[in-house]
Amino acid sequence: MKIYAAKDYNDLSRKAANIISAQVILKPNAVLGLATGSTPVGAYKQMIEWHKKGDLDFSRVRSVNLDEYKGLSGDHDQSYRYFMNHNLFDHVNIDKANTNVPNGLAEDPAAECRRYDQVIRDMGGIDLQLLGIGGNGHIGFNEPCDVFEKGTHVVTLTEETRKSNARFFSSIDEVPTHALTMGIQGIMSAGKILLLASGEAKAKAVYDSCFGPVVPGVPASVLQLHRDVIVIADEAALTLVRENEKWGGQIYDN
Ligand code: PGA
Repeated sequence: MKIYAAKDYNDLSRKAANIISAQVILKPNAVLGLATGSTPVGAYKQMIEWHKKGDLDFSRVRSVNLDEYKGLSGDHDQSYRYFMNHNLFDHVNIDKANTNVPNGLAEDPAAECRRYDQVIRDMGGIDLQLLGIGGNGHIGFNEPCDVFEKGTHVVTLTEETRKSNARFFSSIDEVPTHALTMGIQGIMSAGKILLLASGEAKAKAVYDSCFGPVVPGVPASVLQLHRDVIVIADEAALTLVRENEKWGGQIYDN
């Protein structure tokens, strides 16, 4: 696991966009595991800018998103399909037929989860998985629990997550109670993982995930077992890591 300190959110976004773009340049038909939430928006904006300048070609890129709210259609403005269209896909030359988000309206959610895992297998796995992190250490919607759930599955969202995401809805009652999320095995089978964290609300999750015990109560802690993880965090998100910087040399400053 390599931790890169970013000066601020802009710096974090630019660094992240550079790493994702490098993946696309090295492998034009790369499978990108994409994430929603406020953290990756700046990186998406940067990649859109580079695409518009003619420097980044998404024509052969394939993508698979981490998760979707159960019960929301792709047209709902808080669905993650809508988010991806709005924040990235509509502005670059990706073929939407090659983009995948779980179907939140599937009549048989368990079958949809199996289908989704098969989609990932059929694409040959994920080359680069982008992740945000919840204040509770969740990745995708893998919430803290007693076991690492392996495959794509339906989760009950924690109150903390629903409260945190209520800012995007008109009231907390409108935040769905369940979601479909890629599982820990799906995430861990990616060739490379890029986790972004911004703001002090993530400081404890970042510290526990990078240096605490590997436990399903902190889902992102499992990333310690992956051989190619890059964490880009701004100083606010690194507060606790800095305070405990006794291992030295593990943070790449700039
Ligand atoms: P955020 O969400 O980027 O909106 O902070 C991250 C997450 O919950 O995974």
